[in-house]
Amino acid sequence: MPPILKLTLAAIAATTTLATQAQQAPLKVGLMLPYTGTFAALGDNIEKGFRLYINEQGGKLAGREIQFFKVDDESEPSKATDNVNKLIKRDNVDVIVGTVHSGVALAMARAAKESNTLLIVPNAGADGITGPQCAPNIFRSSFSNWQPGYATGVVAAQKGYKKAMTITWNYAAGTETVKGFTEAFEKAGGKVVKDLTLPFPNVEFQALLTEIAAQKPDVVFAFFAGGGAVKFVKDYDAAGLKKTVPLMGSGFLTDGTLEAQGASAQGLITTLHYADNIETPRNNDFRNKFAVAYRSNPDVYAVQGYDAAQLLAAGLNAVKGDMAKRPAMLAAMNKATIDSPRGRFTLSPQRNPVQDFYIREVKGLYNVNSGIAVKALADPGRGCKG
Ligand code: BEZ
Repeated sequence: MPPILKLTLAAIAATTTLATQAQQAPLKVGLMLPYTGTFAALGDNIEKGFRLYINEQGGKLAGREIQFFKVDDESEPSKATDNVNKLIKRDNVDVIVGTVHSGVALAMARAAKESNTLLIVPNAGADGITGPQCAPNIFRSSFSNWQPGYATGVVAAQKGYKKAMTITWNYAAGTETVKGFTEAFEKAGGKVVKDLTLPFPNVEFQALLTEIAAQKPDVVFAFFAGGGAVKFVKDYDAAGLKKTVPLMGSGFLTDGTLEAQGASAQGLITTLHYADNIETPRNNDFRNKFAVAYRSNPDVYAVQGYDAAQLLAAGLNAVKGDMAKRPAMLAAMNKATIDSPRGRFTLSPQRNPVQDFYIREVKGLYNVNSGIAVKALADPGRGCKG
């Protein structure tokens, strides 16, 4: 064999070995979630859902073992940049999955965009993430804040309510959800007469409840989640308002909270991209496996974590685990159809789920589906240029 051909063959062999080694190296997944504070249970269920899907695949994605790196973001925006840089710069992760809180997620998206780190958001709805701050390496497996707000506005108007008040925490998730509600409600002829807010994660609702009682609107629209939602729904009931002013909300008001809210939540109507009793083999299988694995019922947060793993798998499978083939991986994620427990969904051009929003009513310990509020609702993706 001529020496030059020998050298070329040796170089090809070395490159192939390196590529194989790279494929076999564990995939470094950074989980940045709240493990403490008012959203702790949400972060916990996102991780459980994410791990459940990976365990269903034998603990690997596209043949690669998974190595986890975890950061508790405490739902604290002021620490978000330092926290996400622990994963990006210190741990050198391949992908980040996080987080719950919109303010924290906006800082994560900034860092992910600057460093070109793949980011999958498994909850936080900040409109900017798939709006002005969008980037080809940033995906969401959950929703935009506008979506559940808009869907609830449609349902409130269909119920014939004309005069609404809103109440929420004064940060992106609250204000953007209220904006979505107002857009749909007023388009259908209703009027939002007053927006009430308090700082996140404050739960001193009394003065605001007194104002609602004085104004007597036809309906109150609320965005709260986690521990704050538990306290709000109980306080609303204790103030005697549940009997006099109907309370509606995006479904976070009653998801993952029903045991703690007890009788105070019974009968509440919300909308969300998930309901406990979606009667499909996919949802039943997911719920059974989750219950067996964790001895608890899943909620929307578990579904979103599970689907974040499915979205990652769609990208990795397309490139056989070789993340160096970044354009092909991102293209596969963009055009994936995710077979979610919530129902199949695709992604918008801004990489946010296009999905059905269910009308749900609280019955016992379940958010029971009583119809579709809006089918295949896509976030408008306003301001996204990438
Ligand atoms: C958010 O901050 O985006 C959020 C938090 C909890 C539930 C839903 C949204």
